Amino acid sequence: MKINVIGLGYIGLPTALSMAANGLNVIGTDLKQDILDTIKKGKMTFQEKGMDELLSKARESGNLSLSDRCVEADVYIISVPTPYIKISKKIDSKYVEKAVRDVLSICPDGSVIAIESTVSPGTIDDVVRPVLEENENESGKKIHIAHVPERIIPGNMLYELRNNSRTIGVDDPSVGEMLKEVYGSFCMGQMIVTDIKTAEMTKVIENTYRDINIAFANELAKICRRDNMDVYEVIRVANMHPRVNILSPGPGVGGHCISVDPWFLVGDYPDIVNIIRHARLVNDEQPRYVLERISEIMQENSIQKIEEVGLYGMTYKENVDDTRESPTLQLLDYMKQYAAKGIKVYDPYITYNMVPDQYQNFDSFLNDVKMIVVMVAHDHIINNCASLKGKVVFDTRNCLHDIETYKL
Ligand SMILES: NC(=O)c1ccc[n+]([C@@H]2O[C@H](COP(=O)([O-])OP(=O)(O)OC[C@H]3O[C@@H](n4cnc5c(N)ncnc54)[C@H](O)[C@@H]3O)[C@@H](O)[C@H]2O)c1
Repeated sequence: MKINVIGLGYIGLPTALSMAANGLNVIGTDLKQDILDTIKKGKMTFQEKGMDELLSKARESGNLSLSDRCVEADVYIISVPTPYIKISKKIDSKYVEKAVRDVLSICPDGSVIAIESTVSPGTIDDVVRPVLEENENESGKKIHIAHVPERIIPGNMLYELRNNSRTIGVDDPSVGEMLKEVYGSFCMGQMIVTDIKTAEMTKVIENTYRDINIAFANELAKICRRDNMDVYEVIRVANMHPRVNILSPGPGVGGHCISVDPWFLVGDYPDIVNIIRHARLVNDEQPRYVLERISEIMQENSIQKIEEVGLYGMTYKENVDDTRESPTLQLLDYMKQYAAKGIKVYDPYITYNMVPDQYQNFDSFLNDVKMIVVMVAHDHIINNCASLKGKVVFDTRNCLHDIETYKL
């Protein structure tokens, strides 16, 4: 069976490599030539545990080829971006639509298009089906559509690709059986076949559920701060209840999933959503709250200038190099609005300069600041905790336990 994976980013690339390493004939397609060139040289385009080895295995298998356009195949897997439109909050489905049109221009009759990109419920009916129908009327080709959303977590992608259950949304059970076989080539998790709209909705609400839970924890952090309670101890004790599972507060929510997908529901159901909208607003407000805490802690320690403060971590979560929508970038944006500048920034995973006053050397960064704000719980800072002695440390992630720190 021939598989064409379209979009070789954080999701498409591990999927393509896993399939090739497990015996499927895979062609990976991306519009960006630099991505194809890097993979051709045997180099990874982002850092992720186990990916270098998987890339070598996929290349050595002889099952992987690369192309800057879609090619003839039996199954097409689309993993292109799905951002939201900032004003309407609705999904911006233009990348998915273009990828589907690209596929339709070359795919053989009877082939299957499986959309892995996260889409809002109804996107396939409203955006993709009309394109398929138009194509069927013009060419006579009957193409099957499916939605197989991805739920892996950066930092533990390969374990989760192999072990998570998969939702397979289809119109026709025989397509579901075929896709079970394709994904079963590398995935040991349960395959749950359902209808397409249920698959769309479940993916979006899984992330929305987590966003609301984090917003709840962030609100608890503020309540506890006002009346001098330790939010981490409060949550730890509450979570001993057999039916309570509160997530941790933090400096905000970033990444391409949790901080984006709930907006799709806000955009599509504005007259119904309430908790979902407010959870998003609470989490988007959190970097501003961190700034307020920075200012309080500076005053308490007679630190006069923002130039004496350093933000540790620019990624949206620990031990990855993905900075999309990260709380640190959100915080820097707020500062820019007030023309406040000079705060120093360092992240061991970001080896190129993204923002002003960014350091590439940890020791120089430490030397130049009196106060460190830990925005990301990379293993690197936990392992180097001792080097923070003598600094004022504000730990927004509650990850440092061997030194005295300020908390949210
Ligand atoms: N990153 C995650 O952790 C994660 C987790 C689960 C689901 N998702 C979802 O998966 C989808 C992809 O996310 P990602 O993080 O991999 O995005 P990404 O930006 O890392 O990768 C997308 C790739 O698609 C390519 N592309 C865009 N249009 C194309 C086209 N027409 N033809 C060929 N290539 C094209 C881009 O060049 C890019 O390399 C999104 O819908 C996202 O919400 C992401």
